[in-house]
Amino acid sequence: MDKQEKAGGIRVTFEAAQAQAAAAIDAAPSLLTQYRCPLCRKVFACYDDLKTHYAMEHAGSILPITISLNVNDKDSEMLIEPNWTLLQALQYRLGLTGAKHMCERGACGSCTVIIDGRPMLSCHLLAVECEGKKITTVEGIAADKKWKPLIDAYCKWDAMQCGYCTPGFLVTAKVLLDRNPNPTEQDIKEALAGNICICGTYPRHAQAILEAVEVMARPPEEPKPAPGPGGPGGFGGFGGFGGFGQGGN
Ligand code: FES
Ligand code: FES
Repeated sequence: MDKQEKAGGIRVTFEAAQAQAAAAIDAAPSLLTQYRCPLCRKVFACYDDLKTHYAMEHAGSILPITISLNVNDKDSEMLIEPNWTLLQALQYRLGLTGAKHMCERGACGSCTVIIDGRPMLSCHLLAVECEGKKITTVEGIAADKKWKPLIDAYCKWDAMQCGYCTPGFLVTAKVLLDRNPNPTEQDIKEALAGNICICGTYPRHAQAILEAVEVMARPPEEPKPAPGPGGPGGFGGFGGFGGFGQGGN
């Protein structure tokens, strides 16, 4: 255990983030196997039984609906209330808590996800509107080895304090780099203008993204021999990416 771990800090590496993200994606249910009444918690084997139950016991209440979303290349069926936002569906039904709930007014960017290649605010979209679209969350980015340089650079430059806003920044940065693999500092500032950080980490994001750009432009490295005992660990950093497991409502 190193000094940082002894002090109660979390040692952040790409590998740790990748494993955590892949586990979260894997754990998201694909098929609805039961239909739980959100009002009285009774469980039904099919949607028609739930409908009958509503008609008999909750007449006048809004019936939940079933939808299917493609999130991080995985189709998931879920039962939601028709007024749920995409952010609620991701958090409550799929357990994907990387997109964060902060202002809920479209003002902070913490809930940013990618929909059909565009950064979108998941607090401002109804989940039902997102059927048939390709949704990528920060978990999908973290699970993809291609983005290791970006995550490593965020860790190295400590582009986070509490980490709550960091997934939103990272998602926006990924879209920027997809569109413009060689951005200037000004391009980065403009792309991230909709992401708010209460901790004030702004200068670190451009540093991290510019370093990731430089690393991603290098030719692939030859595989290195495995490090011996006491070999290099990951980059430091307290707080990580806001924790994929944090931020539920
Ligand atoms: S929580 Fe969606 S923009 Fe702030
Ligand atoms: S809000 Fe704390 S790191 Fe941005």
